[in-house]
Amino acid sequence: MAELSWCDKYAVGVESIDAEHKEMFDAVRELGSAMAQNADAAETGALLEKLVDATGKHFADEEAMMREAKYPGLALHAANHQRLKEKVEAFADRYSQSGAKMNQHALNFLRDWLVYHIENDDQRLGDWLKNRVRDLARAQAQPQAAGHSG
Ligand SMILES: [Fe+2]
Ligand SMILES: [Fe+2]
Repeated sequence: MAELSWCDKYAVGVESIDAEHKEMFDAVRELGSAMAQNADAAETGALLEKLVDATGKHFADEEAMMREAKYPGLALHAANHQRLKEKVEAFADRYSQSGAKMNQHALNFLRDWLVYHIENDDQRLGDWLKNRVRDLARAQAQPQAAGHSG
């Protein structure tokens, strides 16, 4: 399967979210190339830890953004984050403790889960945030439009 590379179809249109998604893509790709070059368990374990950190930070950032904006889909979205976070952490534990090498199947699983989450939950969140910004701008513009002209 092709390696994970960023392209515009993954963008959700919120700059900070897209930037962190790119970092996560990079972390997954780095892991993939290390595995392709037969890296040892210590190296893949360290790269997995890096992915765990990037994932944890990103999910916390997204959840803070959702709370701040009172996003109605927060509970479900956060539950999906939790599930993915547990998976990544479980992989990191398994591969860094056992000394076993991470396999392609596990990597594909992570990659597919990440892409699926971005294309669904995060895209919905991005659309909602962009609409909200538009509504707020419109609401602010309206008193002026109604005018103090008279
Ligand atoms: Fe998310
Ligand atoms: Fe995300």
